[in-house]
Amino acid sequence: MVRLDITRGSPRPFAAHGPGSALVRLPGMNSGHDQDSLRHHGDVDAEHGLLDFAVNVRLDRPPAWLRHRLTAALDRLGRYPSAADNLAARAAAAARHGRDASEVLLLAGAAEGFALLPSLRPRLAALVHPSFTEPELALRTADVEVARVQLDPADGFRLDAGAVPEQADLVVLGNPTNPTSVLHQAAEIRRLLRPGRVVVVDEAFSDTVPGEPESLAGCREPGLLVFRSLTKMWGLPGLRAGYALGDPDLLRRLGRYRPHWPINALVLEAVVACCEPDALAESEQAAVEFEEHRAGLVAELDGIAGIQVAMPARAPFLLLRVDGGAEVRDALRQHGIAVRRGDTFPGLGPDHLRVAVRDPAQNALLVKALRDILGWG
Ligand SMILES: Cc1ncc(COP(=O)(O)O)c(C=O)c1O
Repeated sequence: MVRLDITRGSPRPFAAHGPGSALVRLPGMNSGHDQDSLRHHGDVDAEHGLLDFAVNVRLDRPPAWLRHRLTAALDRLGRYPSAADNLAARAAAAARHGRDASEVLLLAGAAEGFALLPSLRPRLAALVHPSFTEPELALRTADVEVARVQLDPADGFRLDAGAVPEQADLVVLGNPTNPTSVLHQAAEIRRLLRPGRVVVVDEAFSDTVPGEPESLAGCREPGLLVFRSLTKMWGLPGLRAGYALGDPDLLRRLGRYRPHWPINALVLEAVVACCEPDALAESEQAAVEFEEHRAGLVAELDGIAGIQVAMPARAPFLLLRVDGGAEVRDALRQHGIAVRRGDTFPGLGPDHLRVAVRDPAQNALLVKALRDILGWG
């Protein structure tokens, strides 16, 4: 069963989507609880000094080789980034995904891509939830009407393309999805494509899945936009680096209201560096390690009565359901561990927690704390 919620504006007729579909109107979006929830991210949960299972960034700083590249690029801050510099970075990203440089728009992180979506002037945006909340925040703040398509936990939060309203001229989803860790099938995502509709796939975590089996980054389809991020794999949340892949005309519409020189010299250097063969090999190796570490963590968590792990999980984090989740989160903080609250994601509640997959030694600390808190120590 998939649920549908509509936000903004006065009630208007809307096609029902199967038995059990529900229409819920949410309050406006300029302030208030809804906005606070959508704006909440794991960095707020990860207070200084706590062992961080709240933020899903692989490293606490970029690797040394990348820091050296960025340091050398500081000399370029004395001039404006040129069209040739921009083209070189786009060419690097394009080559990584088997595309043309004209099919790449560099972004100040995938988050900027979401902020640009209102430039496409959508009339109805369907957002597949539970998912990263920035797209909804950006669209509702721009007064775009939004339909929430709530995936069903009983169905493993699996995408059902048929549940997305036909009228939607913009659809946004994540793959793999934050916070459920689900990896949707590329074929099911492609079923969302229609003439006159833009489908945005947030692949910020795609490089954490070995071989990226369901990525659409290399796929040339009218109306398909793929957002990629350097943040998670390369420990770069403070840099703001990513890019969009898609049809050149669509990218032009997406970026038409940006200021001049939107991408700085350090980001340009990072994109080039992270698309080089050695970086890609390191990233693939890290993805394989994530799989191993996640399997170990799932096995341990499965052994604790009272914890349910959303499966199958393919991303470097897990969605947990724990009775008394809010209290467990507080108790973990007392044990020096930060986890991400789940209740700010549409469709999840206080018993949901998201935990990052770390190395086995750190994962063992989380497991031990949970066992102690839940009385299995
Ligand atoms: C699923 C997802 N997409 C995109 C982003 C934003 O990525 P970036 O740092 O590239 O803006 C995040 C950050 O938390 C995320 O979790």
